[in-house]
Amino acid sequence: MTATTPLTADQATTDSDTLVDVRHLKMYFPIRRGMIIERVVGHVHAVDDITFQVKRGETLGLVGESGCGKSTTGRAVLQIYKPTAGEVYFAGREISHLTGNDLRAYRRNMQMIFQDPFASLDPRMTVGGIVAEPLEIHNLARGKEKEEKVREMLRIVGLNPYFANRYPHEFSGGQRQRIGVGAPSRSSRSSSCAMSPSARSTCRFRRRSSTCSKSCKRSTT
Ligand SMILES: Nc1ncnc2c1ncn2[C@@H]1O[C@H](COP(=O)(O)OP(=O)(O)OP(=O)(O)O)[C@@H](O)[C@H]1O
Ligand SMILES: [Mg+2]
Repeated sequence: MTATTPLTADQATTDSDTLVDVRHLKMYFPIRRGMIIERVVGHVHAVDDITFQVKRGETLGLVGESGCGKSTTGRAVLQIYKPTAGEVYFAGREISHLTGNDLRAYRRNMQMIFQDPFASLDPRMTVGGIVAEPLEIHNLARGKEKEEKVREMLRIVGLNPYFANRYPHEFSGGQRQRIGVGAPSRSSRSSSCAMSPSARSTCRFRRRSSTCSKSCKRSTT
């Protein structure tokens, strides 16, 4: 099945306004024991039968104590983890079975925004390289056009475009968060979804992400 395959009746979600539709999602991790011969002695039920929908333009907050499965939910929705069970629809299309190019095409429209910039930005890459990476992976721009898009993205998230040659450690914590928002958003198409799972998602960070996303939305429409 390719990214443009028409939906069958049972694939279509009931509401065309629904961008992300997660149904009965489960993610179990095996618990292994044994030094030489490893065997599975049980499973961590990190996500156990979660169902939710996100409509276009809507923001959904997933709140819960540490270890309750917020990040795992985000990763399973993005197919970074293959869910143990359940269905994930994006813009009406069931995506949990996608692989290879089909999965890459879908990932252009969904991204994780990590709150911890130290964990998410490669310290050996310049900020320009980090922001350009999604453009290269998804073949969205090359050469001069790519450089211009990188500068535009830095401007949109409130950074000086001439900072493109700097490394992540040369920015403040808040500026690094904005780089994290800018890098994935650059690949946005008509329908996109950003996930920022964190127990410490502060109001300031949420406001900043939301402002940046709105600017990105304006710039891509
Ligand atoms: N790759 C993995 N392998 C095994 N167990 C995992 C894995 N990832 C997460 N877990 C376990 O799944 C549970 C949920 O973890 P998760 O990271 O989703 O929690 P969280 O709600 O995001 O927590 P926090 O608020 O602390 O970030 C935890 O018990 C964790 O130990
Ligand atoms: Mg987490």
